[in-house]
Amino acid sequence: MAEMWQLKPLLLLITVLLVVCTAAGDGGGMPLVTPITKDPSTSLYIISAPVAENDQITNHLVLDLSGPFIWSTCPDGYVPLGCTSPACMHAHRFHPPNCPHTGYGKPDADNAHRCKCTAHPHNPLSGDTASDDMTEFTTSVNTTDGKNPLKEVSFVVATSCAPESLLAKLPENVVGVVGLARSALALHAQIARTQKVAKKFALCLPSGGGAAGVAIFGGGPLFLLPPDRPDMMESLVGYTPLVKHGKSPGYFVRSKKGIAVNQARVPLGDAPLIIGLSSTIPYTALRTDVYGAFIKAFDAATADRARVTPSVAPFELCYEATQLGSTLLGYAVPQIDVMLQGGKNWTVFGGNSMAQVNDHTACLAFVEMKGQYKRAPYGGGGLTEAPAVVLGGFQLENNLLVLDEEKQQLGFSSLLFGRRTTCSNFNFTSAAF
Ligand SMILES: *[C@@H]1O[C@H](CO)[C@@H](O)[C@H](O)[C@H]1NC(C)=O
Ligand SMILES: *[C@@H]1O[C@H](CO)[C@@H](O)[C@H](O)[C@H]1NC(C)=O
Ligand SMILES: *[C@@H]1O[C@H](CO)[C@@H](O)[C@H](O)[C@H]1NC(C)=O
Repeated sequence: MAEMWQLKPLLLLITVLLVVCTAAGDGGGMPLVTPITKDPSTSLYIISAPVAENDQITNHLVLDLSGPFIWSTCPDGYVPLGCTSPACMHAHRFHPPNCPHTGYGKPDADNAHRCKCTAHPHNPLSGDTASDDMTEFTTSVNTTDGKNPLKEVSFVVATSCAPESLLAKLPENVVGVVGLARSALALHAQIARTQKVAKKFALCLPSGGGAAGVAIFGGGPLFLLPPDRPDMMESLVGYTPLVKHGKSPGYFVRSKKGIAVNQARVPLGDAPLIIGLSSTIPYTALRTDVYGAFIKAFDAATADRARVTPSVAPFELCYEATQLGSTLLGYAVPQIDVMLQGGKNWTVFGGNSMAQVNDHTACLAFVEMKGQYKRAPYGGGGLTEAPAVVLGGFQLENNLLVLDEEKQQLGFSSLLFGRRTTCSNFNFTSAAF
């Protein structure tokens, strides 16, 4: 009896090691590629992960750039991770705001000798947090040469379970969240470990309408159709250093010179601005002081354009669309330059600044930060000042982002329309299939 008990964890360990080792060989150190879709009703971005343990199931999961791990509802009979597993140690670094520290886990009801690892999955939309078991499952993703998917590789990912109730406010068919933050349990970090690829990923969010965007994990190249375009990862506008903001595991960059509208600096004082990235808010949110000055500057720069009043909520500045004029980069409106540390500008053109709210009306698609954006998730309480800017989905779409944790930098492309392509132009057809 006692021997059996000792043998089981050993066998489990060997099995896990075997799976991990074969998987690492399978991909041959190549980057992995996956499509990203946009949910039309919530504007959330979704990836799909087949579950190898049950070939009937594909999990649809919301992408969260601020989420430190992966969580989903779990099937009956899942195997909880033990409290001494490395994944459990990592999971315990992240306690959402107001979540009591509950230790590493609790005794397993099915096996009194075993401690089950507990994690604290957080829903970025509802703001709710739960406590549930850590587990793992095997999923498959395609390798890529940057042009097409090549072949499927399978690997084990550590995830947290979550109760059904934590799915509130997420799209109908979604069963959880894929965290892509700066954490050892985020999807790209787990791919980097199992596939022996770089701890970096490229994210190209689609603007919807059914066509998928693309994420590549582990490095370049990345080609988008038409076929004569250069490697997009080699033709970025530039890079800016990633910075920390409080205890948040999310991505932040810094601007020392601030923001300009139509080449004129918005008066925001001399303190550097902290700028966060979010894949779970639909529009960029500006802290109240920044919002006021920015709206005033854009209002003045567009004084001669025909307005639509009252404006369409949640926006404050709306225009008669037919009067705006259009260009390759969207409506012909003043450009917005965010002057980033390192000397490069993140320039926002009409295609990322003006939202079409109805046939006749386009509105400046920036909103004032509300309470829920002020508190950085997993930020350890409300001690940290809110970032000045949190870039949201509409401003990120059809821009290529390269989040590189090895070099601690963010690469950005600006609106891809300028290169006559979009995030929905990856060729997901594989010659090999
Ligand atoms: C891999 O790519 C092929 C071809 O596009 C596709 O049919 C298949 O579903 C992909 N596999 C995964 C796991 O995404
Ligand atoms: C960045 O934007 C500012 C303000 O519009 C402009 O003066 C500056 O020349 C731009 N810098 C670069 C490197 O494009
Ligand atoms: C997409 O890739 C497939 C497989 O390599 C190729 O046959 C097809 O021509 C490509 N499509 C375009 C539009 O280039």
